[in-house]
Amino acid sequence: MTPKPDDICPRPDRPVDGVSRPLASPICPSSVYRCESPEEAAALLAGATPGFVYSRDGHPNAAQLADRCAELHGAERATVTGSGMAALALAMLSQLQSGDHVIASSSLYGRSLRLFTLEAVRLGVTTSVVDSCDVAAVAANITDETRLVVVETISNPLLRVADIPALAEVAHRRGARLLVDNSFASPTVCRPLELGADLVMESITKIINGHSDVMLGWLGGRSETWSRVADLQSTWGFFASPWDCWLASRGISTLHLRAERASANALRVAEVLSGRSDLAAVSYPGLRSHLDHALAQRQFGSQFGNVVTFTLPGGTEAARRLIAAAAETIPFCPSLGELCTTLSHPESTSHRTLAADARAAQGITGGMIRLSVGIESVEEIVKNLGGAIDAAGTR
Ligand SMILES: Cc1ncc(COP(=O)(O)O)c(C=O)c1O
Repeated sequence: MTPKPDDICPRPDRPVDGVSRPLASPICPSSVYRCESPEEAAALLAGATPGFVYSRDGHPNAAQLADRCAELHGAERATVTGSGMAALALAMLSQLQSGDHVIASSSLYGRSLRLFTLEAVRLGVTTSVVDSCDVAAVAANITDETRLVVVETISNPLLRVADIPALAEVAHRRGARLLVDNSFASPTVCRPLELGADLVMESITKIINGHSDVMLGWLGGRSETWSRVADLQSTWGFFASPWDCWLASRGISTLHLRAERASANALRVAEVLSGRSDLAAVSYPGLRSHLDHALAQRQFGSQFGNVVTFTLPGGTEAARRLIAAAAETIPFCPSLGELCTTLSHPESTSHRTLAADARAAQGITGGMIRLSVGIESVEEIVKNLGGAIDAAGTR
């Protein structure tokens, strides 16, 4: 009897004959995997046999991406999540419980600060917000209950550099762990685990994927940090789509080339901007004038990342004019790590929810522009940026 469409359509695909192995990884969007027997299912679910059962627990594309990033970072354990924030939330949930204390750097990304000052607190954790450039202040705020110190390798938007070995030392002395958000650096610029951090996270959304078409996060760490991670990831559903992981695996394949080019471009752009007498400030860790230049050289070597921040003395009005003047060549996009050069305006985007005096205390003014330098030719970037600044005027 001819089978009915009702029976043909739902059928799983038959394997194609032959054993050809593709060079490029296939996408495995299957939400579930077949098990040969109850024994095999039990062994897979218990993690005793390598493989996959249900995609929320893991799938090949996430495993491949997590491993590649782990290799770049020298991480013993790693996982991929649906966004950078999901990776941070997973770190928070896996390391903290009610009654614990966490120290969060005052210059963390706004959502990260909310995670540790609102969400963690809702779960019974206490949080101290401390300037992580002041290692003595971090040490002074550590208590017997402190389990975690959270900092960013390069802070937003002033691009201050965290002294990772010193922060790890003060955390470890009191039995706490150091978690580093490395999203502004990427593993090509900094490998925090090698400098003493216990956990590191990346917003893969940024330069690791680098093509503005994926939201993903990555969390890596030492084995001893990992006992609760896999279980929590599945229970809270911090899932990463196979399609996104597959795209990001393409992105990470060229990370070293893009990051090197963008870093070199950023240094040149920072030097050119520093040569202008009509800007109030230029910040880039690769500049000798940067407060943390010596530390950046020690921790990063020859690449300092692709973000440059500069300030127009004319405040918000001057920033508005520059954004309009640059629109055709340097889009206003409040993210970073894209292929092309983009700009952002911290006052109206990343730091908009801060009270004006809190922004001022961090040194953030209306005339501040954060540039994410891309991989175009540096001549083109300098021409476009210089032309837009000249056309807009800085006062
Ligand atoms: C430093 C930093 N950490 C974490 C995040 C969150 O990453 P995602 O947007 O992938 O959730 C961002 C996003 O802008 C960020 O800038």
